[in-house]
Amino acid sequence: MELKRSLGLFDAMAIGIGAIIGAGIFVVTGISAGLAGPALLLSLLIGAFISGFTALSFAELASLIPKEGGGYEFAHELISPFAGFISGWLWLVSNIVVGAVVSLGFASYLAIFIPWLPVNATAAAACLVITMINYLGARESSLFNDALVVIKLLILAFFVAIGLGAVSFGNFSPFMPNGGYGVMQGAAIIFFAYSGFARVTLISEEVKNPRKTIPLAIILALGISTVIYMLVSFVAIGLVGYHALATSGSPLAVAAQSESKNAAMLISIGALVATMSVLLTTVLGLSRISFAMARNNDLPAFFTKLHPKRATPYNTILVFGLIMTIFAAFTDILQAASIANFAMLLYYVIANYAALRIEKPVYPRIIPALGLITSILLLFFLTSDAWVIGIIAILAGILFYRLERSETIRWKI
Ligand code: ALA
Repeated sequence: MELKRSLGLFDAMAIGIGAIIGAGIFVVTGISAGLAGPALLLSLLIGAFISGFTALSFAELASLIPKEGGGYEFAHELISPFAGFISGWLWLVSNIVVGAVVSLGFASYLAIFIPWLPVNATAAAACLVITMINYLGARESSLFNDALVVIKLLILAFFVAIGLGAVSFGNFSPFMPNGGYGVMQGAAIIFFAYSGFARVTLISEEVKNPRKTIPLAIILALGISTVIYMLVSFVAIGLVGYHALATSGSPLAVAAQSESKNAAMLISIGALVATMSVLLTTVLGLSRISFAMARNNDLPAFFTKLHPKRATPYNTILVFGLIMTIFAAFTDILQAASIANFAMLLYYVIANYAALRIEKPVYPRIIPALGLITSILLLFFLTSDAWVIGIIAILAGILFYRLERSETIRWKI
């Protein structure tokens, strides 16, 4: 049984935007503003450039190898099966953690409406609901995703429209209170906001006309998100200054509150919708990459089973949805976002390296080379915690890979 090709350009682009715009802009901008100051705008631009190089590499790779599994398949085919495994493993680690960050972002905005709700328990419940929606099927979850994407874009546009006229330029001075190092640290954290631009490559076999649709969808999704991030951050800093953003778990609500209480409520609804839509595509991605890995015997065969009616890889959806739910119950946003970025940047390093190995590339080789170098560079501005936990996760992956191939311990499922 095969996956169904049911997704067109709008759906594919919406899966990208669905995966990109979420806890990053609604929550992590506050943390990043605390590091970079108003130069958060520069941090965002740096993140956009690094993502841009890598996005072009993904666009090229996806049109060459339009197979379910994205970076995992690219590395598997162009570098080696082991590089493919590590790439897939990094993606899984990163996105289990992304799911936790995003559901915590959801919970911190929900607390504006229902202050007594415990944040971690709410986050875990959100993970469970989204797992069930993914279980229903790609078409159903994609239709739901399209609707969420339109709503979150409209609400952010509203924020910019009401706030732009009230921007106070005094709030941009001093522009770089923590200097260039603060800007780079801000970039390393706000990079979280761009993660997801290549999500559609994970479901290439469910996209119609993938060689054309996927590259276009990636570039459109990243371009649109970058413009929105710059505008929203400019307005947020201009309304209340970076200090106020840095000290809140729901920074855009604080910025909107300076306009009116109703605006803050609407922005909070936007945050709930946005984080839900990122969660949706995160579970979608987790299930699809593990499906692709299991198909190549890199994960137990049990993950390749498709639902007889819905054609979804239901075992992977349930297993990874549950791991994410448990993680969401125990983590916190700053540390989790750093770990997610660490693993994601390494995943991008491998993808750019795979792009460098394409024999007759369409784009000049300088693009994947810059994607690779800048992704490595950003790693050095992440916290030592992220390095330690990220390296432990990679070592666990290598151990798993070895055990899985040993004669004595074979996956029997
Ligand atoms: N880019 C995604 C977000 O900001 C992970 O929520």
